[in-house]
Amino acid sequence: MGRLAIVAAMPQELQTLLDAMPDESRVQRAGRDFWVGHWEGRELVAVLSGIGKVAAAITTTLLLTEFEAQAVVFVGVAGGLGAGVQVGDAVVATELLQHDMDASPLFPRHQIPGLGKSRLPTDPALSGAVCAAAREALSHASGHGTRLLKDTPATVHQGLIVSGDRFVSSASESTALRQALPDALAVEMEGAALAQVCHDFQVPFAVVRTISDRADDTAHVDFARFIDEVARHVALDIVRGTLHRWP
Ligand code: ADE
Repeated sequence: MGRLAIVAAMPQELQTLLDAMPDESRVQRAGRDFWVGHWEGRELVAVLSGIGKVAAAITTTLLLTEFEAQAVVFVGVAGGLGAGVQVGDAVVATELLQHDMDASPLFPRHQIPGLGKSRLPTDPALSGAVCAAAREALSHASGHGTRLLKDTPATVHQGLIVSGDRFVSSASESTALRQALPDALAVEMEGAALAQVCHDFQVPFAVVRTISDRADDTAHVDFARFIDEVARHVALDIVRGTLHRWP
């Protein structure tokens, strides 16, 4: 089994993983720190994605070309869009789309020119492993003292995640996104870029996001709190559970 890449959105999420890896060594490329080592008997390369689609695309390209990653898992947080997608839940992507891609009228809105599609599917087997790992991680989350903002059990959703170069922090913007893309479950800033790179290189990938906010007027407050109190613990548990289940 080849090397698995773990791409984290936030430094706190990466750090908990590095603390768990016994032998990581740092390799620098393009101003980024890539951490190569082992965990749970598997060869890993872990890295921060950088914020936004371009940064994520560069990071992913380097993972595939310089570090020969055989598969990529993105772990991070997102804003909830779907009606039942609440803070503390997780969304495992079945497909990803760039919500700010719009070359109309030359191409249909959201379509990636040259690819002829707007939605890029994730790898079903890897996503299945991530989904099972997320379920287990969230069932442990209350044990970490990390049950935040709601009393009902956290849910793992599967479906469309949309990405764009904006932190969505107003109710009017999230309403517009819901109208344009009614089946979108969550919004973030990197996943669809990673998806496009993995699609072009034909490398399996998965994206899982815990929901830090509802992409509305309080998004920035909920986001900061969620990262420190919840996301980093959940991210580590999801990576561990995925390693146990895949391939
Ligand atoms: N990541 C976490 N919350 C987000 C939001 N509201 N918009 C974009 N990316 C996010």
